[in-house]
Amino acid sequence: MNKKLFIPLVAATALAACQPTTETAEDRFIDQLLSQMTLEEKIGQMNQLNFDQPLDTVKAQVRRGEIGSMLNIPVDIINEVQRTAMEESRLGIPLIIGRDVIHGYKTVFPIPLGQAASFNPQVVEDGGRVAAIEATSQGMRWTFAPMLDVSRDARWGRIAESLGEDPYLAAELGAAMVRGFQGDSLNDPTSMAACAKHFVGYGASEGGRDYNSTQIPLRSLRNVYLPPFQRAIETGAATVMTSFNDNDGVPSSCNDFLLRTVLRDEWRFDGFVVSDWNSMGEMMAHGVAADRKDVARLSANAGLDMEMVSYTYMDYLPELVAEGAVPMEHIDQAVRNILRIKYRLGLFDNPYIDTDKPSPLYAEEHLQKARTAATQSAILLKNDGVLPLKTSQTVAIIGPMADAPHDQLGTWSFDGEQSHTVTPLKALQTEYKQVKYHYEPGLRYSRDTNTDRFQAVKRAVRQSDVAVVFVGEEAILSGEAHSLSNINLIGKQSDLLQAVKSVGKPVVMVVMAGRPLTIERDLPYADAVLYSFHPGTMGGPAILDLLFGRENPSGKLPVTFVREVGQIPMYYNHHNTGRPAQDWFTPIDQIPLNAQQTSLGNTSFYLDSGRDPLFPFGYGLSYTRFEYANLRLSDTVASPTGVITATATIKNVGTTDGTEVVQLYVRDLVGSIARPVRELKGFQRVHLKAGESKAVTFTLPVQDLAFYGKDLVKKVEPGKFHLWIAPNSAEGLQSEFRVK
Ligand code: BGC
Repeated sequence: MNKKLFIPLVAATALAACQPTTETAEDRFIDQLLSQMTLEEKIGQMNQLNFDQPLDTVKAQVRRGEIGSMLNIPVDIINEVQRTAMEESRLGIPLIIGRDVIHGYKTVFPIPLGQAASFNPQVVEDGGRVAAIEATSQGMRWTFAPMLDVSRDARWGRIAESLGEDPYLAAELGAAMVRGFQGDSLNDPTSMAACAKHFVGYGASEGGRDYNSTQIPLRSLRNVYLPPFQRAIETGAATVMTSFNDNDGVPSSCNDFLLRTVLRDEWRFDGFVVSDWNSMGEMMAHGVAADRKDVARLSANAGLDMEMVSYTYMDYLPELVAEGAVPMEHIDQAVRNILRIKYRLGLFDNPYIDTDKPSPLYAEEHLQKARTAATQSAILLKNDGVLPLKTSQTVAIIGPMADAPHDQLGTWSFDGEQSHTVTPLKALQTEYKQVKYHYEPGLRYSRDTNTDRFQAVKRAVRQSDVAVVFVGEEAILSGEAHSLSNINLIGKQSDLLQAVKSVGKPVVMVVMAGRPLTIERDLPYADAVLYSFHPGTMGGPAILDLLFGRENPSGKLPVTFVREVGQIPMYYNHHNTGRPAQDWFTPIDQIPLNAQQTSLGNTSFYLDSGRDPLFPFGYGLSYTRFEYANLRLSDTVASPTGVITATATIKNVGTTDGTEVVQLYVRDLVGSIARPVRELKGFQRVHLKAGESKAVTFTLPVQDLAFYGKDLVKKVEPGKFHLWIAPNSAEGLQSEFRVK
């Protein structure tokens, strides 16, 4: 068999040297290859297989050039299957091997929502880098991350995988994750192609039910949901995944406006687009495709390059092309996009895993980075003086999450191993040996309703100086297809907390969960609350360092915490409305009998839960206190091309060193459309020694105030703006400026 019909890269490059042209070596390589491919081989590149068939069957397909990519292939056969592609298929085109490496491969970092709480792009970039180093060592050169779905609904299980509710934060941290996965160059063998997903709007699924429809008008799509994706593309994300949802009736996998107009024409994306798992096939269930042939036609014409697992391209594109229902240019374009990324990854030259290299899995440096991430991701929500604990105190360790090595890893940790997880209990036994403790979980897992051990719990608390109650959610209760309509602490965990409190000792509640739970009813029973979105492999030592004051909490909420599930959606960057709620309301039990209809004020609030969330976006405490003073702006008037510089003095007025996430917000007071009451435009982590103060400066290009207004054109609209430098989205120092 003639294995290499196409002119190899070196030859192509040499050829280029004598032909002055703007074409790059990459273009020429792809053109050469494409010109030798049959239609069937081209369609093969557009086909992604889930490894769920016997090896011989898979290899036969690879040999025939019917597969461009695989996911979920066991690592020990990656080289073997790749060798089949390289040496036994007619053109020797390498496979691109993908996997969901979402927040770590073996060394598991906090879930993305937790990483977002660090407000630290470096921590997020490190997470991506560690994941890429570990996963590429096993042959995976493509990850299905970052997930950039803005989500305002904690019922949705996949909020765990998101970077929170704010488009700016998600864009900044998503870009950091792309940098981490892809490294300095895709060509480096430790680089993984990133995949910006799920394009787009998936986080707004109705009622938080996974896979559900979304109703996002074009302006909100442009102003809220698309920006993190645009940022990822600008950062160089190699691939994009379409989402499951239909938005206003149009499933993403056949949305040519998204895939061609926005992605290609506006953003100049030159990587490839993959469908989500059977999201193409599901267009029949959506009711927009009559049969599998229709599916292939709709997606290919919309600009979807690679089909994940549903095989309609393989089965129907040949005849659709023959009938003229799918133009050949669409096929060529898709294949070019796929080959381009394979070329950039260096797969044509280095397709195999080097099995002689020392394993980087669980490298000490990786574990340290995961520990730092978990430390910076935890948010102190309440502290009546009980924290930090002293190592001389005897501690009762209570609750089902104190020693839950699997659950602490969180959702989407396919490859993480619980045998490597360091739980809080394990960290206590290994790193805090001097601390005396009594361990009594009380409940075996988060959903457990058996309270038989509560007496034993109380005994343990009585014998201790302080109780730390580890509650939360098992990993399986968040993530894909794991939505909830009730997001209180599940099982008997609230009862457990109350039983502990009844003993009369100080109580610390540590929550490990995949979403912001509704914990208002639990707050009276806890003197301090530390919230740690599933913190990963090194969560245990990180949490103990925070509890014992070796580290000072610095995380801030990347998402609003509601009081009641019925408040959802509630998010900080909402519109003011025509009747904004007041900062007072009459509690429902104090409404007089026979009250007049308008006696409560005709504004936008709930009779039973008021106007405000439990904790606002950006909120988080520290063991010290920071004072904000002396906000000053460089100018009070700026041109649309100018820059505003805002400075405030932040002082650590406590006796402990600490780090504050200082936040910059703006409000556009009058626009052609209603504008958010606040929008995050910057943040900085600032370390301050006890007593120290620093001038913290933000530089705000006025162009960052541009938005899609009434005419759907992105621009800065002149007028007055408010600006805050703030510790969270509900407080801060305020000033104002005007754009001419
Ligand atoms: C998920 C994607 C994931 C894919 C591959 C789908 O069910 O929605 O996020 O990347 O499966 O595992």
